[in-house]
Amino acid sequence: MVIASAPGKIILFGEHAVVYGKPAIAIAITKRTYVKSRKIDSGIQIFSKDKTKSTIEYVKHAIELVIGTKRMKKQGINIIIDSELPVGGGLGSSAALSVATIKSVSSLFGIDLGKEEIARLGWKVESKVQDVSSGIDPFISTYGGAIYYKNGRFNYQQINPLSIVIGFTGSSSSTKNMISNVSYLRKKYPKIIDHIFDIIGVISERAKIILDASNNLNVNELGDLMNLNNGLLKAFGVSSFSLSNLVDASLLAGAFGAKITGAGGEGCIFALSSGKEKEISTAIEMAGGIPVPIEISFDGVRLEPNSKKNII
Ligand code: PMV
Repeated sequence: MVIASAPGKIILFGEHAVVYGKPAIAIAITKRTYVKSRKIDSGIQIFSKDKTKSTIEYVKHAIELVIGTKRMKKQGINIIIDSELPVGGGLGSSAALSVATIKSVSSLFGIDLGKEEIARLGWKVESKVQDVSSGIDPFISTYGGAIYYKNGRFNYQQINPLSIVIGFTGSSSSTKNMISNVSYLRKKYPKIIDHIFDIIGVISERAKIILDASNNLNVNELGDLMNLNNGLLKAFGVSSFSLSNLVDASLLAGAFGAKITGAGGEGCIFALSSGKEKEISTAIEMAGGIPVPIEISFDGVRLEPNSKKNII
């Protein structure tokens, strides 16, 4: 029996535009998905609190990529999932699930995969299930920390400490649908949407400099960049009444900036709060959301001691 875990993430800047080759910045967070795997006689058994159709798809594709379809016919696997991440909430739950499954199953079969291979297999799983994926989620979930990502390549970033509060609307939406809505809009208005992607790319580039640990953090400018990026995400139509409500409530409570994170539709926003965590958390609650204080996780995918089995 092997237990592996991988962290969720927030995209600080650049979601959606990253699918079209623009840069984006993501950090791993201290909420993880745990996957326990063990060999059984035959078949694939999956146990999870959120056993949606896509959960099963992510796990099956991950197993198939690691051990191959031939071997899958001969060898059964039992998978137990325990996740601290809401499914479809914009916190990278599917990538954390894929990456943790790849690590757990490969270790179970004595297959030694490096981080690069795990991230790329995770990307393949996401692309199979979602049709399109930039790959940023499996990369950040595999490596942890903070990354600047573009077209399957990334740089590890040493960033200034940030104080962030996540606001979850309590509902989720499908990343696949959100990506396809943006793609539809791009087909309709190619010049306009491509320009917006370009501007989001410029925002990510600027944010990279501000976040860099060797510069003094200018929270005001970082907040402005978040607000600008959020406005552009709204222009894509990936915001909702509840997401906008949480963004506005956080800003009114003193956040320097607030924006949707991930695919949008529903899911999560995050607010940049220097010293106003309590006020912002209360404001998010009053606006009907669920506040989640988080910290950056420097650990990416990892094996867990078997004693950790009490959590799953
Ligand atoms: O909502 P999430 O956690 O699946 O994030 C998706 C981010 C997108 O940029 C919309 C898609 C991608 O593959 O980068």
